[in-house]
Amino acid sequence: MSDLLVKNATLPDGRSGIDVLVADGRIVNVSQRISAAAARTVDAQGCLLTPPFVDAHFHMDATLSYGLPRVNESGTLLEGIALWGELKPTLTQEAIVERALAYCDWAVAKGLLAIRSHVDVCDPRLLAVEALLHVKERVKSYLDLQLVAFPQDGVLRSPNAVELLERALAMGVDVVGGIPHFERTMHDGTESVRLLCRIAADQGRLVDMHCDETDDPHSRHIETLALESLRHGLAGRVNGSHLTSMHSMDNYYVSKLIPLMQEAGVSAVANPLINITIQGRHDTYPKRRGLTRVPELMAAGVTVAFGHDCVMDPWYSLGSADMLEVASMGLHVAQMTGQDAMRACFDAVTVNAAAILHLDGYGIAPGNRADFVLLQARDPVEAIRLRATRLAVFRGGKMIAQTPAATAALDVPGRPASVDWMPER
Ligand code: FE2
Repeated sequence: MSDLLVKNATLPDGRSGIDVLVADGRIVNVSQRISAAAARTVDAQGCLLTPPFVDAHFHMDATLSYGLPRVNESGTLLEGIALWGELKPTLTQEAIVERALAYCDWAVAKGLLAIRSHVDVCDPRLLAVEALLHVKERVKSYLDLQLVAFPQDGVLRSPNAVELLERALAMGVDVVGGIPHFERTMHDGTESVRLLCRIAADQGRLVDMHCDETDDPHSRHIETLALESLRHGLAGRVNGSHLTSMHSMDNYYVSKLIPLMQEAGVSAVANPLINITIQGRHDTYPKRRGLTRVPELMAAGVTVAFGHDCVMDPWYSLGSADMLEVASMGLHVAQMTGQDAMRACFDAVTVNAAAILHLDGYGIAPGNRADFVLLQARDPVEAIRLRATRLAVFRGGKMIAQTPAATAALDVPGRPASVDWMPER
């Protein structure tokens, strides 16, 4: 007998009336009208069954530290940096582990089952690295946590950062990170990209740099990142995170840059919740949005994902591990309101992010691990509109989280007794 049979689901590509059969934790059949005995049968009632949400950019070492040692009163980046500086010396491994595990609980409940988290390596104790490696091991049966060695204070600017970064990689951190725009000069930024790509190429690592997270149109480290990707043959293995300066760059320059990124196989992660709040702060009016050029990158064939970046930490007081909130903000800020564009925003928090993380066996197809989420929505656009309830979350065919359907009881004259926000079609 099979473990699980999901009946009458709609898939993100629009196929409807689909059944999904699971045995030994793997998907064995995806088709209409499967008749098979299963230990558990779930009637999807035509709702959307999606592969899990994937967050391509997060900071788990800082998450849920809101209010420690005090809140960010102004809500600005500068006060956030000052706050992190106050918090860092007081951090303990136990506290980081505790908060990260709590965040993973939120993630699971929201159907977010894979996260790429940067972890600060500019700390001689590598406290956060040890803590998050421990968390990675603790959660691995239900959540894929991929770690990036992130020299938050600059790999050249911060003393011993190269050695610390290499030590973090040796300890089990997966990906090489960087922050070229935070180095002292443009030249040092360029040198840092070269150095970090060389380390990645030598060690066969993926690369994910915080890159050009500034409103300065002359911050062009993404160009160097693309060139180094070409030079080392790293196509498909290098990601530029944020890339907000592209918003402000000269259009003619960008007309050369985007094809270079495509040719070099460099992907992009935008962080709409954070960048809409942090960028353009030196502007009066008009104020720039600061999000990178998402639809233009996608049109050129560059893989683009949306990340959450921060949740309740020194930089951002909000957030709840809801990648549909992230997709919704990305959709609005990038003005991606066309039908295909809205669906692309759903891809940005599912398939595109999974591709950037190099997740193995992702997607609702025979042979893959039976990881999927049943949403209270009928298609990806409705899921974004409603930030749909995650009715059930499955990992390896086992239901690991469920949430009651959203509804509201009404008592008004001549109207129905309840509402469910999904009008008849
Ligand atoms: Fe970040």
